[in-house]
Amino acid sequence: MSDNKEEWGSKLGVILAVAGSAVGLGNFLRFPGQAAANGGGAFLIPYFCALFLLGLPIGWAEWTMGKYGGKKGLHGAPMVMGAIGKGRLARYLGVLGVLIPLGVSTYYVFIETWTFAYFLKYISGGIGIDRTADIVTQTAQSGSFYTMITGADGDGLLFTGDSKFTVISWIVVFAVNIFFVFRGLSKGIEKFVSYAMPVMAVCALIVLIRVLTLGTPNPAIPEQNVINGLGYMWNPDFSALGNFQTWLAAAGQIFFSLSVGFGVIINYASYMKAKDDVALSGLTASATNELFEVGFGGMITLTAAFVFLGLSGTAGAVATGSFGLGFNTLPVVFAQMGAFENIIGAIWFLMLWLAAITSSLSMYAPATAHLKEATGWSHTKSTSTIAIIGTIGAILTLWFTAGGAFWSTVDFWVGTYLIFVLAMVQIIYFGWVFGIERGWKELHQGASIQVPTIFKVIMKYIAPAYLIIVFVGFTIQNFRASLEASWANTGSRVAMLTIAAILAYLVIVTYVGEKRLRAAGVDIDDNNPAD
Ligand code: ALA
Repeated sequence: MSDNKEEWGSKLGVILAVAGSAVGLGNFLRFPGQAAANGGGAFLIPYFCALFLLGLPIGWAEWTMGKYGGKKGLHGAPMVMGAIGKGRLARYLGVLGVLIPLGVSTYYVFIETWTFAYFLKYISGGIGIDRTADIVTQTAQSGSFYTMITGADGDGLLFTGDSKFTVISWIVVFAVNIFFVFRGLSKGIEKFVSYAMPVMAVCALIVLIRVLTLGTPNPAIPEQNVINGLGYMWNPDFSALGNFQTWLAAAGQIFFSLSVGFGVIINYASYMKAKDDVALSGLTASATNELFEVGFGGMITLTAAFVFLGLSGTAGAVATGSFGLGFNTLPVVFAQMGAFENIIGAIWFLMLWLAAITSSLSMYAPATAHLKEATGWSHTKSTSTIAIIGTIGAILTLWFTAGGAFWSTVDFWVGTYLIFVLAMVQIIYFGWVFGIERGWKELHQGASIQVPTIFKVIMKYIAPAYLIIVFVGFTIQNFRASLEASWANTGSRVAMLTIAAILAYLVIVTYVGEKRLRAAGVDIDDNNPAD
């Protein structure tokens, strides 16, 4: 068990940990799901704009702010943001950098549990799809397994009958997460990620090769072939560029996928040394994420679904949402692979599980760091407290499963809306309060590469303007209706109250920390800037 002093074991360790945090369910499920929902190739232009104008520059800003906070001995997002933004407002806005990862973890670990449960089923004989049945029957069989595992038919169902398998799987998955968080950064997270990432890459490669060699599985439908499947995803479609929703979805995907605007990078980078590089590290972590997202996530899921099931219809590639594609549609695809079904199914879900766990591990670290720093508690006490909060959140997620209302409400408000807000807050404070010249200098301290100067303009003007426009548009168009929808049933109401309760707790912790650190003479408002 680690003591209170955290540090990375190696320079590569922090890059791997950030890449591990970034590569997750977002790459393999959410990305193809979003692309399918937003017209395939039409999604990609706004996606790459968001990558270069938002994800990459705000990611660099987060790395830089985190390292700067670390120089002053600060590690949690609220205290680091307080130093960057020189005062209370920034510090309390920084609470979002703890609320987001902790809030997202409540449902992310639930979905991670599905991947683990599917994996266990595939290595022990499959999920009950009859290979000889027709596609419509197989889709129904896949759907009922999905409903059983997710408890989507009603609240409390996961605690009854066969669905208890999900609760048992959750206990294992949560315990593994907490075990590695307890072990600390270098002995826990860094070590786990350094094994998990290569295994995940090999699994992804195996599934990718299988998918790319599918050819034309049904000669009676020659148009359903691999090339056309890839074409659906990759041929740009300029006609959808006028659709505001597509731009919004693309920016949301970039943030979620890169773990930017999450509060994770700020925390991880705060354990780096002053002379460590952040410019190349940020670029490497983002490039790794894009390799997995575009190279694997963008080639496997939709292509496989397309060649076997076509585009539309009840079983088609675009018929189910982000998660439905991986859990509902792909098992039907695997059932068409004959003897390979269970092997490919097991490899796919093992890969998803590894991708998910390297991300969920990063979601507890910011909260643990904040608690330690604000209260002066030991690593053990802080981690235990976070484990208790995580358990309460998880029990609510496991209970309120009807229609996925609880977890999708948290996903929308915390995993989409608040990420936007935090990214906007971060880049505005970085460019305008900390100051872009100072920020640029910090970004290049110990840097192995020179970031092109155009990014200075992007960080100061383009990214904030882009986010403000999207945020205002989003708020005007969606806020009221979304709020009403989030109060429409018990699961979503409990979700809203849970978010509010966690927020209240974190605000109190921040208030305590502010007093304690100030009394201890820590320069939390950055009155004496560090070199
Ligand atoms: N960045 C993580 C993902 O893509 C949260 O799943």
